[in-house]
Amino acid sequence: MATFSAFAPLRTALLWTLTLGLLLPVARAQLSTPDHLQDPGFWPTQPGASRGDYTGPEACRQCHAEKFADQAKTAMRRTMLKPSASEALRTHPQLTFDVGPYRYIIESDAQHSLYTQKSSRAYALIVRARCAQGDLGNAKAALAQVSARDRSSVVRACGKLGIELN
Ligand code: HEC
Repeated sequence: MATFSAFAPLRTALLWTLTLGLLLPVARAQLSTPDHLQDPGFWPTQPGASRGDYTGPEACRQCHAEKFADQAKTAMRRTMLKPSASEALRTHPQLTFDVGPYRYIIESDAQHSLYTQKSSRAYALIVRARCAQGDLGNAKAALAQVSARDRSSVVRACGKLGIELN
């Protein structure tokens, strides 16, 4: 056993090496997010680079002229446009379309686009509210947007409030 104890310091060193070698990576993997952010290199939640750190699309044009021109016309690029830069909205200041009982309206000027969803039933509620306020003019204006199907019940409701719409 004397020979064995002569190796004791070596054995201890080996044990420590194994222990640290196995445990340290575990300890590293358990670093908190702020610790990881202090580390050099990439980490998914690193704060984004500032805008000035990017070269911008112009830098790609000299070698990728064709792709540069194409990309500007893709639907993906258009989804990122501000409404004020949208050709479709600029050239169509009022867009209206109907889906089932709902009417969608997009009204645009140079700076803004207002997206509205209107339906016969929503207008029926407006008519009733105007009638309750005794506002005959606006009640009639809103009634013009109510479909024939919803019309009679609204007119009846207003009649009960003493407002004759017909
Ligand atoms: C100095 C010339 C040059 C510039 C500037 C340049 N590229 Fe490239 N790029 C190349 C070359 C050459 C290739 C390889 C083309 C090939 O393999 O057909 C390439 C390939 C690519 C590819 C891979 C295309 C594929 O089909 O796999 C992408 C994506 C790309 N470039 C994006 C960009 C972007 C984004 C920029 C601007 C930030 C840019 N490049 C600027 C020369 C350039």
